Amino acid sequence: MHTNKVLNESMPTDVQIIRSRAELLQSQHACFASVVAEREYLAFLEPPSLDDVIAFNRAQNERGMIAFQAVLGDRVVGWCDVRPALVEGFSHNGDLGMGIHAYFRSQGIGTRLIAATIDACWSSGLKRISLEVFSSNLPAIRLYEKVGFQTEVVKSRGRLLDGRYDNVHTMGLLHDG
Ligand SMILES: CC(C)(COP(=O)(O)OP(=O)(O)OC[C@H]1O[C@@H](n2cnc3c(N)ncnc32)[C@H](O)[C@@H]1OP(=O)(O)O)[C@@H](O)C(=O)NCCC(=O)NCCS
Repeated sequence: MHTNKVLNESMPTDVQIIRSRAELLQSQHACFASVVAEREYLAFLEPPSLDDVIAFNRAQNERGMIAFQAVLGDRVVGWCDVRPALVEGFSHNGDLGMGIHAYFRSQGIGTRLIAATIDACWSSGLKRISLEVFSSNLPAIRLYEKVGFQTEVVKSRGRLLDGRYDNVHTMGLLHDG
């Protein structure tokens, strides 16, 4: 009840974009699980356990993951991270994943979150960001195109879920220079 009151009275401008904080991982996990439960936008159909997420994040941080959270107070309402490839010859490239809690979408938060993440990627020396998105996910494709991503490959019928095919777009964003 209290949470709903907070949500109802919140403004998009109250949401801050911050470098990911480990102590907010439990809240991020809850946000992630809510998006997974929609069964629409992410490849995951079940969320990993919180323990697995904490271990994964620790390992990825050591490997140079660039990660941001959208927070309302100490509640995570969105995440965006880029995981650099580890193999020599490919480490200039990172894979992006993101999501915003359903209640907070279409308020400009995703744009602020991905912009901060992209800036940090270029500052860290990455030269290319890649991602995959389902064709049916038009808000996400529009967001990615808005910040400069281009579709490079379309895998026709890349997903078959609940009797419905979806194409999978591979998109890329290059850093000049
Ligand atoms: C995709 C997602 C991250 C976008 O975040 P958001 O905060 O809703 O995005 P914004 O409000 O910043 O809008 C960004 C752009 O997306 C598009 N967009 C946003 N909401 C839209 C909607 N309901 N319908 C169509 N396009 C939409 C618009 O082009 C918008 O830019 P504009 O307002 O300048 O025209 C969010 O919708 C989400 O988390 N979806 C579920 C999880 C997901 O799809 N993750 C990505 C998997 S690849």
